[in-house]
Formats: sequence, C-alpha cells, structure tokens
Amino acid sequence: MIEAVAQAPDLVARDVVKDFAGLRALDGVSFTLRRGEVLGLIGPNGSGKTTLINVVTGLLRITSGEVKVGATDITGWQPYRIARTGVARTFQVVKLFKDFTVRENVEVAAISATGASRAEARERAAAALAQIGIEHLADLTAGVLPQGEERRVEIARALATNPAFILLDEPGAGLNDAEIEVLLPTLDRVRREVGCGILIVDHDMRLIMGLCDRIHVLSYGETIAEGTPDEVRVSPAVIEAYLGAEVAG
Ligand SMILES: Nc1ncnc2c1ncn2[C@@H]1O[C@H](COP(=O)(O)OP(=O)(O)O)[C@@H](O)[C@H]1O
Ligand SMILES: [Mg+2]
Repeated sequence: MIEAVAQAPDLVARDVVKDFAGLRALDGVSFTLRRGEVLGLIGPNGSGKTTLINVVTGLLRITSGEVKVGATDITGWQPYRIARTGVARTFQVVKLFKDFTVRENVEVAAISATGASRAEARERAAAALAQIGIEHLADLTAGVLPQGEERRVEIARALATNPAFILLDEPGAGLNDAEIEVLLPTLDRVRREVGCGILIVDHDMRLIMGLCDRIHVLSYGETIAEGTPDEVRVSPAVIEAYLGAEVAG
C-alpha cells in the first residue's frame, strides 16, 4: 500500500455498469481521481452515488466495466484486497463500534484494512486523530459522540489505513452548520497534508462547492455533467436535474 502511495497512481473507473435485477443503477459511468484532488460526486437521491462507491470498493459486484489503481486492475477484487491497494471509504450510515473508544475504533480500522501490527496501528491512529483534529476525543466511548464527531471519527478510521484515495459517502449528512464549518477545512487539510485523492458525495453545496476541484454529476445512473464547480453550477442539465435555479444564482 505504501508502494501505491509512492507511485501516485490515479484511481480510474471506466464504463461502470451496475444492474440490480431489472434496474440499471449505473449506466456506463467513468471517472478519474488523482492524488491530492477533491472530486465531488453529486446527484439526486437514487442516482447511483453510493452504488458507485460500493462497486469501486468491491462491496458490490460490478456488472461490467473496470476499476484500476494505476496499472493494477482491481475489478472484482474483494473489499479487503482493494483496501490494501490504498482505497479507503466511509459509509453513508456511520458504522462505529459503539462500545469501543474512539482510539480503539481507529486502531481496529488500521489493523483490519492493512494488517498493521498493534504498535503500528497505535501510531497511525494517533496520527489520524491529529490530522482530523480530534485527539481530545480519543478516550471517549464512541457510542456517546454527537453525529458530527462520529463522522470525523469515521474519516480518521479511513485515514489510519494510510490511503492513497478516500471515498466519503455523505460526510456532511445530519451535521449542523457549525459542524459543516469544521468539516470543510478539515477535509481541505487532509487533501493538502496527506495528499490523498478524495471523492466526496454530499448534498451540502457549501461543502461541495467550497472543497471540490472538479465535480461529477449523476442522474438516474448516468453522467450528466463533469467540470469545475463554476462550470457545473451553471450547467442547464444539472440545474434541471438537481440544483434548481437558486443555487445557480
Ligand atoms: N442493494 C440494492 N438492491 C437493489 N437496488 C438497489 C440496491 N442499492 C441501491 N439500489 C437502487 O439503485 C439506485 C441507486 O441507489 P444509490 O446508489 O443508493 O443512490 P444514491 O446514493 O445516489 O442516493 C436506486 O434506485 C436504489 O434504489
Ligand atoms: Mg447514497
């Protein structure tokens, strides 16, 4: 995995199709995520954003298409193997071990995703908690945390795996304005200091427009626009399918 980081490969998904019984949830979606950039993935509910993350991370079997990290074709690999190529993720519904402390939650992630030793995991967890700015939560039981803090712990769990890429599924969901205002600079710092590529799904347009270098827009499993925040904001197809006129302003 350190190798993957050193080579600074792109994460590339090409012509991804995912069918659920009669439903085509993804219909030929392609994207490239580079190290050090933030790519937004937006679109209406049910447009296929979570499915795309699930296919890329191996949680769902792809129907057709391919996923590569640099020259390595990871299509069809098991999630644990994909994690070891440096691809980490968070979930739309936070999945912490409620009875463990924050530190233990982060350590377990490092161990299970990368096979780190206890000692390595402890070091990585400390580094990840510092990167996210939540060292002060380390000894709290995860079950007592407010939602904004839970989401930050989830991101620390992903970071503790030394990822080259992090895929964040709605990290801003359920957060209040103050929590969003903390999350935005936190993610920006991760991009700059860790240098990983971040793919972020979210409905909070302050977060998306404030953070992303490029944005990819899905509607009914198809790409309807790709571009910079300024390009996407004024795209008629995006305004019609998702943003509405007021965000385009
Ligand atoms: N495991 C599943 N089985 C059947 N249909 C699914 C499953 N997961 C998602 N879908 C369907 O695929 C489409 C895309 O869903 P999803 O990727 O969750 O959308 P989004 O994350 O953009 O809201 C939706 O129509 C959803 O109902
Ligand atoms: Mg979703």
